[in-house]
Amino acid sequence: MFLHAFPLNSRMWEPQIRGLRERARVIVPDFPGFGLSGAPAVDPTLDQYAREVIALLDQLHVDRVTVVGLSMGGYVAFRLIGPLGARLAGLALADTRPTPDDAGAVAARHELAAEVDAQGVEAAANEFLPKLLGATALRSQPHLVDRVRAIILENTVPGVAGALRAMAARPDSTPLLAQIGCPVVCVCGDEDVITPPDVARAMAARMRDAWVEVIPQAGHLSNLEAPDAFNDVLRTLLDQKR
Ligand code: MLT
Repeated sequence: MFLHAFPLNSRMWEPQIRGLRERARVIVPDFPGFGLSGAPAVDPTLDQYAREVIALLDQLHVDRVTVVGLSMGGYVAFRLIGPLGARLAGLALADTRPTPDDAGAVAARHELAAEVDAQGVEAAANEFLPKLLGATALRSQPHLVDRVRAIILENTVPGVAGALRAMAARPDSTPLLAQIGCPVVCVCGDEDVITPPDVARAMAARMRDAWVEVIPQAGHLSNLEAPDAFNDVLRTLLDQKR
């Protein structure tokens, strides 16, 4: 199951759906107000996102699941650790961090959420697009900028503004890392300026059964920028059967 980044949606996982559907059943939810999911009536929390994900797994009768969460998707994956327990067969934490926002980041999130409410999702696209893709992708795959922008603009104002406020309120998930009982890969683009590789290394050091994969010439959206390398990492994770 693939959990998408902010402010994208499940369409960011197209290269993984194509590359891995022969290998595993693929489930790609949209968080409330993103992609094909209806807009939330009130601001959600990341724990509510996690509860919706579990309800979906229950509905689909999924007993064991490998979860892949990129950035905000990783923040939600942390909130699944306790509730999923032994149902979690493997975890890929991609370009993400377990720590919460500091005071400055919280203020910036609320400011941007207000801009999204007033001006639309374009405000979030303009703020995030310059940071999401790495220098190599910007130079050698410029079409990705338009593709990512198009995905962002599919999302709703309540979804995007609500996610900003949910991320601002997220708790520290660091204490949960030691509880993880399944194999974990912490994967990160080496050009990721939002969650650089040192964040992935520090996170892996807190877990029992984790390793780090740094993907060369990829930024924060490592799954889109270097899909073959990213998919190889996931195949290795899927092979670590318990
Ligand atoms: C994401 O890619 O999901 C965002 O960069 C997360 C964040 O803004 O913290």
